[in-house]
Parts: sequence; C-alpha cells; structure tokens
Amino acid sequence: MGKLSLAAKITHVPSMYLSELPGPHHGCRQAAIDGHKRIGERCRELGVDTIVVSDVHWLVNAGYHVNCNSRFKGVYTSNELPHFIKNMAYDYPGNPELGRLIAARATEQGVFTRAHEIDSLELEYGTLVPMRYMNGDQHFKVVSIAGWCAWHQLDESRRFGAALKDAIEASDANVAFLASGSLSHRFNDNGSPEEAIHMISREFFRQVDERVVQLWKAGDFATFCKMLPEYNAHCFGEGGMHDTAMLLGLLGWDKYDKPVEIVTDYFASSGTGQINAIFPLP
Ligand SMILES: [Fe+2]
Repeated sequence: MGKLSLAAKITHVPSMYLSELPGPHHGCRQAAIDGHKRIGERCRELGVDTIVVSDVHWLVNAGYHVNCNSRFKGVYTSNELPHFIKNMAYDYPGNPELGRLIAARATEQGVFTRAHEIDSLELEYGTLVPMRYMNGDQHFKVVSIAGWCAWHQLDESRRFGAALKDAIEASDANVAFLASGSLSHRFNDNGSPEEAIHMISREFFRQVDERVVQLWKAGDFATFCKMLPEYNAHCFGEGGMHDTAMLLGLLGWDKYDKPVEIVTDYFASSGTGQINAIFPLP
C-alpha cells in the first residue's frame, strides 16, 4: 500500500540557477536553494521514493496530463528566460506505474487524464529546478503533472488532487507531492532595472501574498479556499494557481486546517511572490 509522506508548495525561480553561477547574482537565492535541500532531506528521512510535481510551466490547453517517462535525461535551456537557465543538464529516473495509476484514478473519478510515456516529451523548469536541489543524486523517481491548466476550473484541479491521493494510496510508492509555482505572479515590466530581480512588481501583490501566508500559518484554509479564485484572478496566478488547487485537493480542501511550516520565508523575485512551505499531512 502506497502513501503520501510529504506535501509542499515550492518556488522554482530560475534565479536559483543564476545564484549558483559566478557573477553579480551569485548567492542571491541561497535561502531558496537551502529550502529545497531541506525538503529533499525531509523526503529522505520519510522514506520517500517518488516525487510528484505539479509544474505550472507545463501548459496544457485541454485535459489533464501526466509525464511518466521511465527516464528524464537531457540538457535544458528555458525558452522563456534563456539568459537565466541555459544548458542545464539533468538525469532522473521516472515512475511510469505511478503515473499511469494517477491518470486511471483521476479519469475514473471524472477528471479525464492522460499518462504519457513519450521520450521527446521533456520536463519543464517547474520540475527541473527543484529536482536539481532535492534530487541531484537521482535518489527519487520523478513524475511531472501539467500544472498550467489554461482553460480549466480550479474545482476540477481540486478533484484531480483528491484523485491523486487515492492513486498514491493504491500504488506501492512512498510519495512527496510538490506544488511548484509562485504566490502572486505579476512580473516586473520589461526594461525594469537589474536590481528589480529582488522586488515585488506592485505593493498590492505583496500585501495580498502576506495575508495569504498568514492564513496558511494559521491553518485557515476554509478562508483561503474561498478567496483562491479571486486571488488567482487579481494577483496573476502562475499557471492559474492550479498547482495550489491540486495541493489542497490532495489535503482535503477547505477542511484542511494544519498550520504550514515555512521552510524559506516569503521573498520577491523578478516582481513575483515566492515561498517554500511544507503542508503537514492531515
Ligand atoms: Fe515559474
């Protein structure tokens, strides 16, 4: 019998990769990198064998999709920010059995989902960035779920999350789930100064994000779930905040009431709001 051992909302900002390299931004995202490493260590302590990532950089226009190749290997350059992430080599094992089971369970429960084993279907950086820091030794198998659901209802992603929990429990895997996406996600205007990499784009977004983090710290998901659609609409939710809807669907939605554990404090990156937080299991 499988189990869910850890759930978290995480950042994946590409400046984490820049932070590793020599130059003016060297070290700038060390706190976020250390947070990923701590989450990876926690997964090891819990005996996790597979990390399932809802990746808001994987855009889908119809249906729900799981990338469950048996191996992910390549050299990645971001189309969107090639000056931030370029030529990043990666190599991780996959878990096709779990991916197929997730798609089958979600489909059975009314959320039509396809599982793909296509070598040329590559990972996006919402998966690759956290795996770089949590899984550099290829300890964990990886399954990636499309989290940028362009024409989908948040409620459907909630139901996908609930089905994901059932699939995990019906599997033989010990799983960590990562909702890989930001809080507010309004980038800085083009042409902003280089130092804006550490700024929020508008104070409004910081204020809303800070209130959201307060609700999370208080375990007040009854309130947070009520405001999620407007939070997404007014604060430019990354990938429509479908990663967050899946995470909360997995945990019980508005009945979930555990105060989150902040692993990396809220920070602004290129205009957006970011955090690493573990959501204790119900
Ligand atoms: Fe992103």
